Amino acid sequence: MPSPIVVVGSINLDLVCAGKRIPGPGETLKGDKFQIFHGGKGANQAVGVARLGYPVNMIGKVGDDDFGKRLRRGLRDVHVGIRHVSTAKAVCSGVALITVDGTGQNSITVIPGANDRLLPRDLEKSLSLLRSAGMILTQLEIPMETVEYLCATARRFGIPVILDPAPARPIPRKVLRNVTYLTPNETETCGLCGLASGDLTPANVASVAELLLSSGPSGVIVKMGSRGAYIAGADGLRCMVPTFKVKAIDSTAAGDAFNAGLAVGLVGGMSLVDAARYGAAVGALSATRAGAQTSMPSGREVARLFQSAEGRVRRVHETRSRS
Ligand code: RIB
Repeated sequence: MPSPIVVVGSINLDLVCAGKRIPGPGETLKGDKFQIFHGGKGANQAVGVARLGYPVNMIGKVGDDDFGKRLRRGLRDVHVGIRHVSTAKAVCSGVALITVDGTGQNSITVIPGANDRLLPRDLEKSLSLLRSAGMILTQLEIPMETVEYLCATARRFGIPVILDPAPARPIPRKVLRNVTYLTPNETETCGLCGLASGDLTPANVASVAELLLSSGPSGVIVKMGSRGAYIAGADGLRCMVPTFKVKAIDSTAAGDAFNAGLAVGLVGGMSLVDAARYGAAVGALSATRAGAQTSMPSGREVARLFQSAEGRVRRVHETRSRS
């Protein structure tokens, strides 16, 4: 039995409104569809790992409400270990209000609820699980003191940590120094580096990643959606990983799917570049489906995407060699 991946993070119920575009301040728009999905960046990553067929345990908190029961059940049903998902008293479960536009882009407001109650003392109760992990995944929808304690503990145990710095907020250097891989998306990269939103481009991503790398992690993977992912490693690795072309309908949790794939690739022995390519495939497939946890692809679906992409590359190659 391989060492499990352990995810420490948020668990939310997503209330999703799909429409032509995302309303501006003070604007009321008529939407097209309302749906409820299971979400939360932590829980999404855990479900992503489970769907790829790898053993995974979640450490998190839900509220003592119906949403909490439903969210726990949802994780258990897809084989995420939930023994370390506890219930906080007198607080609601995390909720995310999400608007998705006609191009698949989204905007999200999160009410943390019970996620804010996940404290270092909860992790102290899960030390044996953390010690047994092959890799730890976390994000920033839980208190920073918990992330700090987790990363320091992982360093002490010699276990690699992937920190998804989402949603964007300042991260103390003492945390970043204990992170193995930092995986910001474009918005988070801009936030962490003091760039105006939208100022990250394929032309400046290398220098921006350099800046992030100098803040402490051993590796930085900047997720640029359909533009691919840029990797910078403390070992000197610099590389742009292309993405897979798909028809995106909902980008919600595509970044979480990427991280799940990255982690599964790494614990399975892939190089960082190959694992990032695997993560890109998982993220791309997730964007072709609505919702967060519902959008996570199976290992077989990812393998099929790889096969068809390789087929295309081969066909291009053959055409060239004939001419
Ligand atoms: O990354 C997507 C997730 O962000 C959603 O599922 C929502 O719950 C928010 O946490």
